[in-house]
Amino acid sequence: MRVLVIGSGGREHALVRAIAKSPLVTKLFCAPGNPGIATVAELVPIPVTEVEALASFAASNDIDLVVPGPEAPLVAGIADLLAERGIRCCGPSKAAAQLEGSKQFTKEVADAAGIPTARWEAFTEAHHALDFISRRGAPIVVKADGLAAGKGVVVAQTEAEAEAAVIACLREGTFGVAGARVVIEEFMEGPEVSVFALCDGTEAVFLGAARDHKRVGDGDTGPNTGGMGAIAPPPGFTHETRTQVMETIIRPTLVEMERRGTPFRGILFAGLMLTEEGPKLIEYNVRFGDPEAETLLPLLESDLLAALLAACEGGLAAVPLRWRAEASVSVVLAAQGYPGAYHRGTRIAGLDKAAAEEAVTLFHAGTRAEGDAILADGGRVLVVNGTGPSLTVARNRAYAAVDALEWPEGFCRRDIGAHFL
Ligand code: AMP
Ligand code: GLY
Repeated sequence: MRVLVIGSGGREHALVRAIAKSPLVTKLFCAPGNPGIATVAELVPIPVTEVEALASFAASNDIDLVVPGPEAPLVAGIADLLAERGIRCCGPSKAAAQLEGSKQFTKEVADAAGIPTARWEAFTEAHHALDFISRRGAPIVVKADGLAAGKGVVVAQTEAEAEAAVIACLREGTFGVAGARVVIEEFMEGPEVSVFALCDGTEAVFLGAARDHKRVGDGDTGPNTGGMGAIAPPPGFTHETRTQVMETIIRPTLVEMERRGTPFRGILFAGLMLTEEGPKLIEYNVRFGDPEAETLLPLLESDLLAALLAACEGGLAAVPLRWRAEASVSVVLAAQGYPGAYHRGTRIAGLDKAAAEEAVTLFHAGTRAEGDAILADGGRVLVVNGTGPSLTVARNRAYAAVDALEWPEGFCRRDIGAHFL
């Protein structure tokens, strides 16, 4: 099979590495990729948002399967463009990608399917939203409806904070069209967990659960980021919880999406709150997480490509996935300043030494090559994963590799998973 992976981050490096192990692969491309990915796949210089160009590339290069990493090409309809050309895509149609593209859409699906989630209401008029907040009181959660680069959610502890969030979205247009509608919802409490399922429209198989570390600083301080690290499995995530999530959240979602004529194919990423009343849905993403992909895929023993193919063709249930029953810890190395302004172009040394640590995998997230040198070229730059028989061992391995890197202009959180030791 000729396979094209779309994306340029650590998640795509993890996908490409896992796919490259499959005996089914004859040729692997990645657009646009990065220097880490270049060691396993041929890079194609097309940005992820140029869906027409990507679909044309796939058609003219006899691609059998396209695997989009990020949500942008999916929300832009790449699966539909590929379907028109008869090319398989392991990702949802534009209509099904609304599970990530619109919070209101997800809430409607959740309500129609009877899925446990926070009670909510949507508004386009600021005065109605403000009325609602004064009736409900704080704490309360205000969300821009559309894609807002992870910045569109305000968990307001006071009514004033909630009002400011409404005004920013509906009066000041801070998030443009993404914030022209807000979803206001009940505040939920409990540990958060990310659950991943591979779906073929009808069936879903569990791909694992992980705990992300979203704040930039140790002890969960500072602003939110795309994720500074992740651990798997999440401590306390029992087999019973997993069954509950699959039966009360993931499967009913697939039934409702099929009923609407927009079946969900691809990787469904459920952000969940484990409340006293059981797991509840916070939000969906229609793709793998980053750095969750770099945390879960190193534990996969089965052929990922065979499973992705089954997700496109149906019959997923017949492709059981086996995972090593180990702990996994990923630590993100970011450029100083991230998630604010940061410099590009600083040199990273010690990569080979770090990668040589036992049970460690190094993923490139935002790098570029200049001659033999690897330079930082993004906010999140590298992801270091360690696996082992316990969280402690996996953590120690990951941090031993981090310490072997020489990159004074970078930083990482030193406490990934530490809370659970
Ligand atoms: P989202 O982008 O919807 O995942 O929201 C970002 C973060 O806001 C989540 O990871 C939660 O920590 C928090 N959050 C979202 N919705 C709620 C809610 N209803 N109650 C409490 N916290 C929430
Ligand atoms: N790590 C969270 C995400 O991929 O959105």
